[in-house]
Amino acid sequence: MPTTHPTAEPAIHVAGLEKSYKEVEVLRGVDFDVERGSIFALLGSNGAGKTTVVNILSTLLAADAGAAAVNGWDVAAHASDVRASISLTGQFAAVDEVLTGRENLVLVARLRHLADPGRVADGLLERFSLTEAGSRKVSTYSGGMRRRLDIAMSLIGNPPVIFLDEPTTGLDPEARLEVWEAVRELAANGTTVLLTTQYLDEAEQLADRIAILHHGRILVDGTLAELKQLLPPARVEYVEKQPTLEDVFLALVGGQTAGEHQGKPVGKAHDQTKELR
Ligand SMILES: Nc1ncnc2c1ncn2[C@@H]1O[C@H](COP(=O)(O)OP(=O)(O)OP(=O)(O)O)[C@@H](O)[C@H]1O
Ligand SMILES: [Mg+2]
Repeated sequence: MPTTHPTAEPAIHVAGLEKSYKEVEVLRGVDFDVERGSIFALLGSNGAGKTTVVNILSTLLAADAGAAAVNGWDVAAHASDVRASISLTGQFAAVDEVLTGRENLVLVARLRHLADPGRVADGLLERFSLTEAGSRKVSTYSGGMRRRLDIAMSLIGNPPVIFLDEPTTGLDPEARLEVWEAVRELAANGTTVLLTTQYLDEAEQLADRIAILHHGRILVDGTLAELKQLLPPARVEYVEKQPTLEDVFLALVGGQTAGEHQGKPVGKAHDQTKELR
């Protein structure tokens, strides 16, 4: 099955996308492009239509109007080529509770006809810090472990485009950082990642480009630096650098802060609201 396309088009192209559920107009002309090998964050409040966009791009849902292409393939005309090019980690974990973590991974590796499913599974368990839990039933996993297993499953077969719908919602700060690290690694290896999030700091930390979906349209789309230029220049103010609760939590339980990932010390001042909710 073809998984690559011979053109240098963007990995994801969306133009004039429209979708209504009965009289509710959810998408009213959505446009954006995602460059190959980049991380693109689709931001929006609850009900903005993020999952609807992801479902259309992953061929689970048909659009009413407009065009969408993934890996060069039109989602309506070449649905099976699109499906061969992507993986989707949905908003709600899709792991099988009765199987162990390892069995879940082996199952997907078999479905994708990989040569050595056991080796693939063990490699992913290690990469996502699940080696010890690998032989336990998923029903005994915490939410963060389930989420990590879910993302690990979506990496099997190295699809060129990955959709992550709210990958860190409900995770504790350490588990979030682990997921962020995994996403960064993916993009560094050339995978295109489209993620949706309600967390502004997640988009800030991860995304090469950020688009804000609001009232059915993309309000803005740009790099973090471009989005920041939309507001007047910052005024210099005296601010006491208090650690955030996240800094305290991570210092006590031994994780890293988001700042440390960027080479900044623990205890940076956080002066903005971090969630859209
Ligand atoms: N199958 C459906 N039938 C009717 N309405 C739907 C259906 N699916 C979604 N909607 C509505 O479409 C709107 C967008 O939903 P969607 O799930 O895409 O939002 P979202 O941005 O992913 O929200 P969240 O952050 O809560 O996940 C919501 O108002 C939702 O109620
Ligand atoms: Mg959603």
